[in-house]
Amino acid sequence: MSSIAAVVLAAGAGTRMKSAKAKVMHEIGGRPMILHLLGTVAGLTPAKVVVVTAPNMAAVQKAVEHAEIAIQQEALGTGHAVAAALESLKGFTGDVLILYGDTPLIEEETLHKMIEKRRKQKDCAVVVLGFEPEDAAEYGRLVTDGAGNLTAIVEFADADAATRSIGLCNSGVMAISGAHLESLIRALDNKNAKGEYYLTDIVGIANKSGLTCAYVKGAEQELLGVNNRAQLAEAEAIAQGRWRAAAMAEGATLIDPETVWFSHDTKLGRDVVIEPGVFFGPKVTVGDNVRIKAYSHLEGTSIGEGAQIGPFARLRPGAEIAADVKIGNFVEIKKSQIEKGAKVSHLSYIGDARIGAEANIGAGTITCNYDGYDKFLTDIGAGAFIGSNTALVAPVKIGDGAIIGAGSTISKDVEADALGIERAAEQQKPGWAKRFRDFKKKGTK
Ligand code: UD1
Ligand code: CA
Repeated sequence: MSSIAAVVLAAGAGTRMKSAKAKVMHEIGGRPMILHLLGTVAGLTPAKVVVVTAPNMAAVQKAVEHAEIAIQQEALGTGHAVAAALESLKGFTGDVLILYGDTPLIEEETLHKMIEKRRKQKDCAVVVLGFEPEDAAEYGRLVTDGAGNLTAIVEFADADAATRSIGLCNSGVMAISGAHLESLIRALDNKNAKGEYYLTDIVGIANKSGLTCAYVKGAEQELLGVNNRAQLAEAEAIAQGRWRAAAMAEGATLIDPETVWFSHDTKLGRDVVIEPGVFFGPKVTVGDNVRIKAYSHLEGTSIGEGAQIGPFARLRPGAEIAADVKIGNFVEIKKSQIEKGAKVSHLSYIGDARIGAEANIGAGTITCNYDGYDKFLTDIGAGAFIGSNTALVAPVKIGDGAIIGAGSTISKDVEADALGIERAAEQQKPGWAKRFRDFKKKGTK
């Protein structure tokens, strides 16, 4: 058994989000914040992860299905929430990390530091993650002795003026000795300003029973708690900053980093250039030497080496773009394979299609893939040339090397190397335009 267990508290109502959705299900980089936290926790390969939720949080329980769920029947405080997890931790004597579902940006290294500290210090029952926020506001305060031991945590509501002037605050994150956890939690009471079972009181209790407590300091950025939409946006900005930095560190050029938005799972190759204003939705993979031009929107897509995308391109789920493809401006692609070296350069909708290697799709080509009830496939062969403003009415197949005349509506298969054209005969009426203008001018006099 690994010697780390994690308890994630998520039973709070989150009323300040003004949302029908549980707070921890709000997303950062396209992923519920609690899953960011669980992702970080997974890096510690814990023996057990317990998520404490309220009884009515089915969506949270489903999202965290790989963790154990403990139900806190009534929100009577953070200590009471941890008590709900005790049953799941029976017999566990390693380190128990307490985390908050609404504090999703904490880094793995910080958790390591806390555990290390607890294991090193003699008789250490609890290590608390402290921080010194610019505005200490209503955080609990860490009371220390001269020797760097943590002697108590005092909640803001219960603190006198001298205690409130302490700048070192409680982030809420703790590493607790599994051997002592149950007895510490069982010793809590709710005789305080809020009438809650404060988890923070275990520090005073441990000290009184001859154990020691310590603290580690973390950065304010990683300890941001999300209580409202403004803080959600702050957390998003912090996460985006991390992803941008990581992308550049791995060899991508971001011309204007602040304007590029990533998902938690965006994967970029080397020597990728991303122009300003590009948005990555979930599940995007980009190969080496790809250039994504300004104001493109991508989700659920893979892009092969050397491809060029945009500006103003929209790649939707299932767009598989092979190497050296060119996707130009105002082109939307959904659930389609665009094979090596093909070009869709201007103003097109390509959905439920395959476009063969080196095919050229003219400006304004539309795959008519939907009849209002069902979707149908369009298959375009290698080296085919589709003239501008063509409507391809699916299901339809264009053979290798075929040419389609501009302005055609094609609803029958076209053989390889054939010309497919559908166009009314053109007429010409000599002098007609001049006669028309002369007539109009006379009429207005
Ligand atoms: C808590 C700390 C405070 C610290 C602050 C940091 C206590 C008593 N106080 O205060 O010292 O500075 O966090 O943000 O611990 N929760 C439950 N069940 C409950 C109550 C809370 O699951 O009955 C969960 C919430 O969903 C949330 C977390 O615990 O994820 C913190 O609860 P919250 O009420 O926000 O604590 P604070 O008052 O902010
Ligand atoms: Ca809080």
